[in-house]
Amino acid sequence: MRTARAPATSANLGSGFDVFGIALSRPADVVRVERADRTTIEVTGAGSQFIPEDPEKNTVGAVAEALDAPAHIQIDKGIRPASGLGSSAASAAAAAVALNDLYDRGKSRKELVPIAAKGEAVVSGDAHDDNVAPAILGGFTIATPDGVTQIDTDISIVVTLPEIVVSTRDARKVVPTETTVEKLVETVGNAATLTAGMYRDDPALVGRGMEDDVVTPARAKLIDGYDAVRDAALAAGATGVTISGAGPAVLAVTRSRDQRSVANAMLDTFDARGIDARAYQTRIGNGTRLY
Ligand code: HSE
Repeated sequence: MRTARAPATSANLGSGFDVFGIALSRPADVVRVERADRTTIEVTGAGSQFIPEDPEKNTVGAVAEALDAPAHIQIDKGIRPASGLGSSAASAAAAAVALNDLYDRGKSRKELVPIAAKGEAVVSGDAHDDNVAPAILGGFTIATPDGVTQIDTDISIVVTLPEIVVSTRDARKVVPTETTVEKLVETVGNAATLTAGMYRDDPALVGRGMEDDVVTPARAKLIDGYDAVRDAALAAGATGVTISGAGPAVLAVTRSRDQRSVANAMLDTFDARGIDARAYQTRIGNGTRLY
């Protein structure tokens, strides 16, 4: 028997669509695996009623198959599905790390990233490494088809999760298929600024580098209150605000001292619009931990 805890993650960070990701110190999923002749899955916790236990339809089923590691897999969800916080990626990452150890498969953490991404493809229809990479490796990750670059960093984050459901499939349908050279130049500049900010543990640079005028404005329309919540967070001291992954979670980068006031400002703004939401005052943190 093995147990692994994999963190929530936030993909994109505005300017790094389908490339950037960060691990959050909380919330997290916990996965327990036990050797068995065939794979069976049991899901409890946040939003578990919406998650299929059929191994053909659950992210961890594909991971067990890829590692040739049949097991009874218990998933305790701390991360609600369809939140924009890498819920399915966390389960896939925890299962990959736990099964690799249980069956002595000898894969490195980096080798487990594409294996966990196979699980992601089961739910989103596409294999993205931008959530599974930080879920496994921790810190800030740059995931490209050529591989993953990881940077340890320490930045305060506030994530607010409204009681709205946005499916990744729907959020991908609104992504523009073309852009201008001006916006390309702006995006490259912002992505580079953000990366420098991660190296320097500098929330001002990271926040500025999250600016994105291509994907985020199109997706913001799917999140009731997004513009008002962003403005409230910035007024309360956030250095940058964007959509977390495909949404509906909204992510703010802050200095540590402003974390609480940013969280309150975002929650109050959702509340004023009659939308229930919860806030996580968190940090960029570690990847999957094996017990
Ligand atoms: N980069 C992906 C998206 C993350 O924003 O659609 C969700 O899988």
